[in-house]
Amino acid sequence: MDRIRIVGGNRLNGTIPISGAKNATLPLMIASLLTAETLILENVPRLADVIQLQRILGNHGVDIMIEGKRPGDEPASGRTLHISAKNIVDTTAPYELVSTMRASFWVIAPLLARMGEAKVSMPGGCAIGTRPVDLLIMALEKLGAEIEIEGGYIIARAPNGLRGGEIIFPKVTVSGTHVALMAAVLAKGTTVIDNAAREPEIGDVADCLNKMGAKVTGIGTSQLVIEGVAKLNGTRHAVLPDRIETGTYAMAVAMTGGDVLLQNTRADLLQSALDVLVKTGTTVTPTNDGIRISRNGAALMPVDVTTAPYPEFPTDLQAQLMALMSLANGTSHITETIFENRFMHVQELARLGARIGLDGETATIEGVKRLRGAPVMATDLRASVSLVIAALAAEGETMVNRVYHLDRGFEKLEEKLSRCGAVIERISS
Ligand code: EPZ
Repeated sequence: MDRIRIVGGNRLNGTIPISGAKNATLPLMIASLLTAETLILENVPRLADVIQLQRILGNHGVDIMIEGKRPGDEPASGRTLHISAKNIVDTTAPYELVSTMRASFWVIAPLLARMGEAKVSMPGGCAIGTRPVDLLIMALEKLGAEIEIEGGYIIARAPNGLRGGEIIFPKVTVSGTHVALMAAVLAKGTTVIDNAAREPEIGDVADCLNKMGAKVTGIGTSQLVIEGVAKLNGTRHAVLPDRIETGTYAMAVAMTGGDVLLQNTRADLLQSALDVLVKTGTTVTPTNDGIRISRNGAALMPVDVTTAPYPEFPTDLQAQLMALMSLANGTSHITETIFENRFMHVQELARLGARIGLDGETATIEGVKRLRGAPVMATDLRASVSLVIAALAAEGETMVNRVYHLDRGFEKLEEKLSRCGAVIERISS
């Protein structure tokens, strides 16, 4: 299994190109099941999760053609996928495929909407909490689906098609909103989704669906209104920038010091996180094509932060902020409200010398003067990258094990960081 070796202590200086968002790419690829015409997605990141979803869609009969790299392409410039779900040959998503990636469960919505039936294994995914699908099932039932659970599979049927309905989510759910939206676009009549998630990736999917001929309004608000249409067409759509990758590198620069331009991204996608960085004493300057992050000499100030649905501070940056605050000049508090078990990085950060206490959903981080390299590993994607950025600022060598988590969500991580002066290499075995 590959490992990543990091020798910490160097400041980061230079430019990091930001990739297309993983969490928009996955539902956009899934949305291709809604039409018999070709969906062309640009700025698709090269990630293990994307490759896995290609396999899952292939099992349903979807053809995916990947455009080659052109001479002069930046190492991170995304790929273009031509996705055709002309012939759906199978409406079952088996356990072997779905258990490795939670988002693949979402195929249930377009398969049901277009084919009138879907049989999808209950999902797996990162070890960050129980992550039920009750709200996704509730949403499909509100649109007229009949649901049965049998042998670990959810079987959804709508032999006469779905019909519009009112879906009120009792809590904000990204997965629930994606599923409700993808089901509603082909339902007969009007659907209203209340307390919808407002994450930018939902807006990106809704924009793409509208280009495909859907009628979605209220994008970016907590009420989405969808007028169902009989069929959708193909289109061309560029995936929006990855705000979590952006925030991760911003925190890396805040942690090591230095000056880096994060290119091809937008400050408005992660304003709450950038506001927190400013409070820590980091300089954040939005530019025409990205965000410049610098910290030169100033002490890191502690902050108190609570994760919450967009536009508040994202849970997907919680581990990275905790790494950063482990070097702050004082005590910080971070409260996690989205996932009940998302503190797996705490004991690994402690191996590097961080002082973190846990009390229920709140972590108290007492800043230390320095971290020291050590062997570490993590059990989820964002926790793994928090160890990478802590290692960049730690003295000596850190070996990060179980790198496959990083490959799920960070395109060319070592290359992007080493181009800015980090000592980081992959050791294949
Ligand atoms: C998405 O997960 C992201 N995944 C996650 O990113 C992200 O952490 C999360 O949203 C929150 O922003 C993708 O987009 C692929 P939810 P999702 O439905 O959709 C509860 C990463 O590292 N809930 O918004 O699964 C749930 O348990 C990943 O890239 C129910 O109770 O998150 C959680 O407490 C990790 N019942 C809360 O809602 C349900 O039926 C929010 O979950 C569904 C969810």
